[in-house]
Amino acid sequence: MRVRSDSPAGTEQTGQKIGKCLRPGDIVCLYGDLGAGKTTLVRGIASAFGISGRDITSASFTVIAEYPVSPSFYHIDLYRIKSPNDLDSTGIWDLLGGDAISVIEWAENLGDITGQRGNIIRIRLSDSGSDTREIMIEGIHEDTWNNL
Ligand SMILES: Nc1ncnc2c1ncn2[C@@H]1O[C@H](COP(=O)(O)OP(=O)(O)OP(=O)(O)O)[C@@H](O)[C@H]1O
Ligand SMILES: [Mg+2]
Repeated sequence: MRVRSDSPAGTEQTGQKIGKCLRPGDIVCLYGDLGAGKTTLVRGIASAFGISGRDITSASFTVIAEYPVSPSFYHIDLYRIKSPNDLDSTGIWDLLGGDAISVIEWAENLGDITGQRGNIIRIRLSDSGSDTREIMIEGIHEDTWNNL
């Protein structure tokens, strides 16, 4: 599925819609260049779980930020991770899937996670000039999306 956004607010709205389609155990992998809008999209996704956008930061030094909502919500930013081996000390392999929702920026730095428990949703963002972004979504629960 492809969605076009013309503003940061539009990207947040798309994120909120995505959030409403998520279920416990879902792993949302975000791909896109610097400034593509990943963190902006996460703000929208998080809002569907009652998390304030102000609490979502692009703090790349915090690899994993946990939000105390139910189901648990993790915002993960792998910008600084150079090798999947660097992840072993973060505890990420225990939390992915499970009953939590995980949203991961720079998900390419995870390495191969096919075979990971949990439904994997892949979202690719690209800047198509000025404030326009293309958002490609794969693996979402489409029945839920179509009924929103
Ligand atoms: N349609 C749009 N959607 C999202 N962001 C937009 C849009 N138009 C302009 N922007 C701007 O692009 C930037 C997106 O920043 P954001 O932090 O969300 O990107 P990011 O992909 O998380 O970057 P990083 O790789 O540094 O983490 C913001 O400055 C935002 O205001
Ligand atoms: Mg970011």
